[in-house]
Amino acid sequence: MRRAFLNYVLASLAATALQPVMAAPSAMPANATAQQDDWWKRAVVYELYPRSFADSNNDGIGDIKGITQHLDYLADLGVDAIWMTPMFPSPQADFGYDVADYNDVDPQFGTVADVDALIAQGKGQGIKLILDFVINHSSDKHPWFVQSRSSKTNPYRDFYIWRDGKANGAPPNNWTSLFGGSAWDKDPNTGQYYYHFFYAQQPDLNWRNPKVEKAMFDAAEWWLKRGVYGYRLDAVGTMFERADLKDNPPAPGKDAFGLPEQNRIYNTEQPEMHTELQRLRQQVIDRYPGRILIGETYVGTSAELSKFYGAHNDEVQLPMFLSLIGIKPLTASELRPKIEAVENNPVGGWPCFALNNHDQRRVPSRYDLPAGTTGDDMAKLTAAMLLTLRGTPILYYGEELGMVNNDPKRVEDVQDIIGKKGWPKEKGRDGERTPMQWNASVNAGFNSGAKPWLPVAPDYTTRNVTAQRNDSNSVINFYRTLIAERRSNPALAGDMAMVDRANPNVLSYVRTGGGKKLLTVLNFGGEAADLTMAQLGGGTAGRIIAQNKANLAGTGIHVAPLGLMVVELS
Ligand code: NOJ
Ligand code: CA
Repeated sequence: MRRAFLNYVLASLAATALQPVMAAPSAMPANATAQQDDWWKRAVVYELYPRSFADSNNDGIGDIKGITQHLDYLADLGVDAIWMTPMFPSPQADFGYDVADYNDVDPQFGTVADVDALIAQGKGQGIKLILDFVINHSSDKHPWFVQSRSSKTNPYRDFYIWRDGKANGAPPNNWTSLFGGSAWDKDPNTGQYYYHFFYAQQPDLNWRNPKVEKAMFDAAEWWLKRGVYGYRLDAVGTMFERADLKDNPPAPGKDAFGLPEQNRIYNTEQPEMHTELQRLRQQVIDRYPGRILIGETYVGTSAELSKFYGAHNDEVQLPMFLSLIGIKPLTASELRPKIEAVENNPVGGWPCFALNNHDQRRVPSRYDLPAGTTGDDMAKLTAAMLLTLRGTPILYYGEELGMVNNDPKRVEDVQDIIGKKGWPKEKGRDGERTPMQWNASVNAGFNSGAKPWLPVAPDYTTRNVTAQRNDSNSVINFYRTLIAERRSNPALAGDMAMVDRANPNVLSYVRTGGGKKLLTVLNFGGEAADLTMAQLGGGTAGRIIAQNKANLAGTGIHVAPLGLMVVELS
């Protein structure tokens, strides 16, 4: 199934000439002097979709109290920070990514006092809270837009992007919305068009207007003062558009909504964004110690990704390497140079990896699985990579259970509007947003019986937290083991070097630090592989930290298809 978000990634890839991968030095230096302000370099971040995590008041929709009630679970898993997707007042056209007030909480999720309690109790458990900052657009119900659309002379008119149509009445240019149709909507009130990269209910803010900057910076600071540890910047690459609104060049094929594809080179990744991000860091984030920005950075190349750190590491601390998600099939030969390029970015920025999120098919449902392998094997293989690479991993709720997609079977069941508009080519994102599977009781323990907003995946009777905690071989215990190792083993805070570099199927690398060495061997191929220790960079395999479908064999390691081993070296 083609997905709008993946198309976005692929369009970015097509739009930018692929950069040659830099020659990788044999070792990647780690920051040896990590201070408290650098806590995020050793952290495991956990993305939480509040609608779907835990429903404390049994109304079918997850809420903030539900999260607070499960902080022990997150602490036990080894999570250091939660990134909570939008819980602000919103008409929910895009399930919270249409914000009607940046400084309040939607009653269906709770109250500001509930967020304060989450922050306070999180502090007790060593878990920091990061919010989602939807910077590109607001809801059309935000008072700023209500004012803006009321007349051409309203003081808020320039908070958004308004233009006349063409002489023949057509929209100002050919830009299409990622979520279907033209990116311009004509407002009957004034006869002008407003621009929206996403849904028409999500008008783009005009960041060229200093009043927008001021209002948005104030909104961001409001939560920092309450103890929030920073923001994940939503759709950051769409913040600016080229001022002259030049038409985008066409690209082959049609999008899921039936319009010709285009290379979005004039309405994404515009250079002005970087100046603005520097200002956000300087004027807001850096005034509060230890606060961070995480970027939703869907870009095609490591060179583009590294721009988000800023030339002086003065923009986004953790731009997520999201084009990882677009690599399909996952092969060692595709992954190796891409990971190395991220690890060796020219500004020395800290890598950030994520494999799952609320916009993408869950890993066990995303890839073709070689004969004899399961989704759990794929979940463990990718987790071993995510948790042993040098960089900050961002997990998505339920991935620690190997949760699979539970996609709608009928268009009338779809909640996500892109799924309604694009059915059946684009089924939307409901499948990866189903309720967290806590136990085998009613609704998987998400609540006490009210119909959840999305159906619980049918495998919940066996795939749930309680059952997996009792199974030493489970996906959750695999995550717990590796997260605990990250905390205690200095090698996982140290340098990283790829070994067996020519292997097209098996990705292997060595982490070194604090006098310890650790080897990760990941077989992405459909064939078993036998690797000698010499081939893997030498040394003797010692304590096995984690393994699946792999074993020590003579002087080497045997890995079955999708097998993996993480082992200490002496
Ligand atoms: C990215 C978010 O992750 C996605 O869920 C949302 O629909 C768009 N940005 C628009 O805000
Ligand atoms: Ca609820």
